[in-house]
Amino acid sequence: MPGDRAVRLEDVTLVRGRTTVFRGLDLELNEARIGLIGDNGAGKSSLFRLLCGLDAPRSGRVWINGADVGGADHRARSVGMMFQNPDEQIIFPTVEEELALGLEVGGLQRRQAREQARAWLQARGLGHWAERAITSLSQGQRQHVCWLALTIAAPRLLLLDEPFASLDLPGQALLDHEIRQASQQIIVSTHLLNHVRGFERVIWLAEGAVRADGPGAEICAAYEADIVQRVAAHALRIDAEANVA
Ligand SMILES: Nc1ncnc2c1ncn2[C@@H]1O[C@H](COP(=O)(O)OP(=O)(O)O)[C@@H](O)[C@H]1O
Ligand SMILES: [Mg+2]
Repeated sequence: MPGDRAVRLEDVTLVRGRTTVFRGLDLELNEARIGLIGDNGAGKSSLFRLLCGLDAPRSGRVWINGADVGGADHRARSVGMMFQNPDEQIIFPTVEEELALGLEVGGLQRRQAREQARAWLQARGLGHWAERAITSLSQGQRQHVCWLALTIAAPRLLLLDEPFASLDLPGQALLDHEIRQASQQIIVSTHLLNHVRGFERVIWLAEGAVRADGPGAEICAAYEADIVQRVAAHALRIDAEANVA
């Protein structure tokens, strides 16, 4: 069994629908901040779904904090995920109720949980959000609620799936700041490379495999160079086809 802080995939094969997303993937994820980059369909969200137990591997094992995600050990459950689409994450009609859920899971009674959630929002200068209906919030505001829900629940491992995608620039800067301040381990997937360029480790996924893995600055530069090359090759092909026609 891996050590107590280990997050590890061992020879994992994942099948979703008709697609084999990962074939025998081995990965250890123990740094405090890890970025996950790569094209659409590369497998970023699928990796997160494996780590939080939403999907089970067809073969192989996923370990979190030394416990098998597929097993009964509660240590593996201290994982929180911020979904790419906030509507997949949010369950309750108001902000306060959504935040209270994380506290109820932690063992508080509903009424107590709601009171604490309200006080927690007030302490952050967001008291006016408590009774807001989720449906009255913009996509970016809903994404922010997802981050707050994750923060108040305080799991040991945070998985953020394209968390910046709908946030305005102040929202992105605030989230960057909060990611830096958080004491937990955080893995962030994003297409906005500047948010992970400074990370000690970034993993570039391509078609379900690790294409490159190393310091953020180096891996982001390699991915950008690859994109420049692919766009140039594509433009050449289009020019050639235009000349034939
Ligand atoms: N709900 C699904 N059912 C079947 N296949 C899926 C589903 N979601 C994603 N896939 C497939 O899994 C692969 C990885 O997708 P995903 O993990 O969502 O990539 P990313 O998050 O990097 O864009 C893609 O080939 C995609 O088509
Ligand atoms: Mg995704």
